[in-house]
Amino acid sequence: MQFQKEKEKILIIDFGSQVTKLIARRIRDLKVYAEIITPLEAKNYHSYNLVKGIILSGGPSTVTKNKFQSIPKQIFKRKIPILGICYGLQLISKLYGGKIKSSKKKREFGKTLIFKKKNSLLTKNFFNSNQVVWMSHEDAVVKLPKNFTSIAYTKSSNLTIIENSKAKIYGVQFHPEVTHTNNGNQIFKNFLFLICKIKDKWNIASQKTKIIQEIKKTVKKDKVICALSGGVDSSVVALLVNKAIKKKLICIMVDTGLMRKNEFKYTYKLFKHTHKLNVKLINASNIFLKKLKNISNPEKKRKIIGNLFIKIFEKESKKIKNIKYLAQGTLYPDIIESRSSTGSKTSKIKSHHNVGGLPKKMNLKLIEPLKELFKDEVRVLGSSLGLFKNISGRHPFPGPGLAIRIIGNITLEKIKILQEADQIFIQELNNHNLYNKIWQAYAALLPIKTVGVMGDSRTYEYTCLLRAVTSEDGMTADYFNFPKDFLDKISNKIINNVKGINRVVYDISSKPPSTIELE
Ligand code: XMP
Repeated sequence: MQFQKEKEKILIIDFGSQVTKLIARRIRDLKVYAEIITPLEAKNYHSYNLVKGIILSGGPSTVTKNKFQSIPKQIFKRKIPILGICYGLQLISKLYGGKIKSSKKKREFGKTLIFKKKNSLLTKNFFNSNQVVWMSHEDAVVKLPKNFTSIAYTKSSNLTIIENSKAKIYGVQFHPEVTHTNNGNQIFKNFLFLICKIKDKWNIASQKTKIIQEIKKTVKKDKVICALSGGVDSSVVALLVNKAIKKKLICIMVDTGLMRKNEFKYTYKLFKHTHKLNVKLINASNIFLKKLKNISNPEKKRKIIGNLFIKIFEKESKKIKNIKYLAQGTLYPDIIESRSSTGSKTSKIKSHHNVGGLPKKMNLKLIEPLKELFKDEVRVLGSSLGLFKNISGRHPFPGPGLAIRIIGNITLEKIKILQEADQIFIQELNNHNLYNKIWQAYAALLPIKTVGVMGDSRTYEYTCLLRAVTSEDGMTADYFNFPKDFLDKISNKIINNVKGINRVVYDISSKPPSTIELE
């Protein structure tokens, strides 16, 4: 299903940088639609007539070798303004006769001071007295391409920003999409509004009607099934499809028993009674617990949960006649990540809660109404559909649920202990207005028992680990820096109220090298 074919856009050609997604985020935050494609897709792209500007991303390739990633020169002949970032700048320079050199001595990584040489539309209001940009490169342009001018330089590189203002082709060696570049957004603003002259008309809430109409048009009189977990993505999908086709949407909620305390009951009631969705509830917690007995290997846990979920969902959906579609909450990052920048079709299906594998087995067609959106945009869409803030603003929750937050083997007792601790943690984050400042927070139960003393008695109980991170998209993360008072309070509260825990630790690792979840 294709959405919103008619909109003006900025095209981002992805050469494989880790941060290409951020370019699209920055542009969409400026209310302009941005789409990411691979260099291979750029060759035969269907709607260049709607493209008001092209951004060439960074990437690991090097133009100093004989073979390097590129795009056909015809793209440059379309007279669409172009901005090259890092590798994008080097590629432009190479294609226009400049010289690029690889030099370990001159490489720049991290925050770097940049100095203005000339005025440019691209850098209007960008420079301040101590302009810091974020660099990550070893190759550098050492000779200007023909008809280009140098706009700015750093200590190591003379050609950090270049332009051919007549052809509207620009290049920057640093990464304006990364927040470490001060004022990086100004580069995008200037490129979009002064150079490409695109209008800031795109916003997610206004896409709602279009998405709903598209679902109506696709589904017509058929039935749609949807696995509703209560997370943001599946909730928004269900509400959108419900708005489009009402009772012909059947939502199945499989209770794995591995959700946060009371979350499943609350979500079920909300969708059934407040949003009036057609929801079928399957209580499968005993089966999940049985299958997970004595399993401590993280990958085995994930596989068992994923397969069992699919089996149950398939069984239940077979009971409903004439289903043609499966609606699922695939997001834009899932789509981007499933394509490599070389265009190979190494399609990756996300974890089980997107019920990957089902459509093939069950012969269902897919509806993915969120596949052009980022998570934050889905949250906004959710709010505009009347989804309560405690769902639309909810932290991400992994498909395998608490099973991967109980390290080692899983028992009902451990699930209950963890649910209590997690509830206290989340409650306190809300009480202290911290919840919305954190990207994801949770409690985990470590399989370590240690000695404690409560009153006059010795205790020998589990250790609770608290994790709270800030992040942009879960790919990298930093631990959240709580005030000491908060940590004191939360530790006391959990130990005093949760029987089974006598020690609380706070995880201060970042991703990488750690991950957000423990398993
Ligand atoms: P990691 O642990 O890889 O997690 O740093 C990154 C983000 O992904 C979530 N996550 C999952 N989400 N099914 C999901 O739907 C899964 O199996 C899964 N594993 C991790 C994790 O909670 C974090 O937000």
